[in-house]
Amino acid sequence: MPSDLSTLAGSGQTVCVTGAGGFIASWLVKLLLARGYTVRGTVRNPGPCFSPHTCLFCITYVESFIFSDRLLSVDDPKNAHLRALEGAKERLALVKADLLDSDGLHVAINGCDGVFHTASPVTDEAEQMIEPAIKGTWNVMNAAADAAVRRVVFTSSIGAVYMNPNRGLDAAVDESCWSDLDYCKVTEVHHQFIPAIWNDLSNNLLSSTTWWWRWMQNWYCYAKTVAEQVAWKVAGERRLDLVVVNPVLTLGPLLQPTLNASTAHVLKYLTGSAATYVNAAQAYVDVRDAAEAHIRVYEAPEAEGRYICAESTLHRGEVVRILAKLFPEYPIPTRCKDEVNPPKKGYRFTNKKLKDLGIQFIPVTQCLLETVKSLQEKALLPIVSCISHN
Ligand SMILES: NC(=O)c1ccc[n+]([C@@H]2O[C@H](COP(=O)([O-])OP(=O)(O)OC[C@H]3O[C@@H](n4cnc5c(N)ncnc54)[C@H](OP(=O)(O)O)[C@@H]3O)[C@@H](O)[C@H]2O)c1
Repeated sequence: MPSDLSTLAGSGQTVCVTGAGGFIASWLVKLLLARGYTVRGTVRNPGPCFSPHTCLFCITYVESFIFSDRLLSVDDPKNAHLRALEGAKERLALVKADLLDSDGLHVAINGCDGVFHTASPVTDEAEQMIEPAIKGTWNVMNAAADAAVRRVVFTSSIGAVYMNPNRGLDAAVDESCWSDLDYCKVTEVHHQFIPAIWNDLSNNLLSSTTWWWRWMQNWYCYAKTVAEQVAWKVAGERRLDLVVVNPVLTLGPLLQPTLNASTAHVLKYLTGSAATYVNAAQAYVDVRDAAEAHIRVYEAPEAEGRYICAESTLHRGEVVRILAKLFPEYPIPTRCKDEVNPPKKGYRFTNKKLKDLGIQFIPVTQCLLETVKSLQEKALLPIVSCISHN
């Protein structure tokens, strides 16, 4: 990072990132700091505040909250990676705020030039998903309007775009498409029960067959769709400048120490717990491109509306073949669960708007390679041989 920050795009600007410790948000915070921004990250448990001597920003907080539990919580190792980022000591403050805590969000957002609203549960459990995603977005948008920020960038999802039974697979899906709420409510998705992974990790994960599966309605897509609609509604009513990024399934290197939901998508194919792959196709994007997209749409004055953030669509069979070629030492499935029907096609998503803003997407093969290497580095996946992948 240059010693003279004044030449950087974000110099002199303070932005708030909600859910700063998450998979996408951590990369966003890293890139924002590298661009010279001062960042306020909301987390549910910030740990001890940075020293007021080294973080000018925190002085304000110490003054405001000297007796507040916002600064006196127990250290959360989940946020250590944020503190280690270059520029964090000088220009990152962590503020305690749940999405349902309007006061905390006002504290975090007041005085900011911009807001990146990325925080959201990522689950199909209705009780955990719906209220924080929807009411939380309403809270963030209103706090941003009260603070008269220049622009809000909202992390929506491709789940708010493609879920529609009347949409054919032949036409490209673009930013004008919206998911059908009734369809989200009636369709079912199957899920791994993630805590099973953790048990297995401590008991020789590679020989495990104890993944738990169950079916749930698509409450994630439902809540993300309504949350995005709420964001647009508040933006319209309160004349707030809003730009939305709609990422597809996001993979790539992890900064945070724990496994997030989208990375678990790849992990299950390396552990021996998935004996087959499903007959389905899905679009992928690298987390570094997703984070960069947020910054591009924030900085470009001409940015407007929604931006689909997708590199390419692959059938699950292609994903496992790429993984097997890159990492033959793992027990990656070779058979499709549905051997009767032809491979299902996926939607073709357009990424033209982000390409026009200068994003050059990382190819999915490189993204998969770096995802797995990162899982190994974080000890989320055991290294089982010395084969080099350089
Ligand atoms: N990863 C993908 O494939 C993908 C694709 C499309 C869109 N997205 C969207 O991108 C955003 C980030 O996703 P991610 O993959 O980075 O997920 P993640 O790693 O699970 O991060 C989500 C963040 O939201 C925070 N959060 C959840 N509930 C909260 C609440 N009630 N109050 C405050 N904070 C809360 C979490 O905080 P804790 O750490 O305290 O739990 C976490 O920091 C989400 O809006 C998601 O819908 C993700």
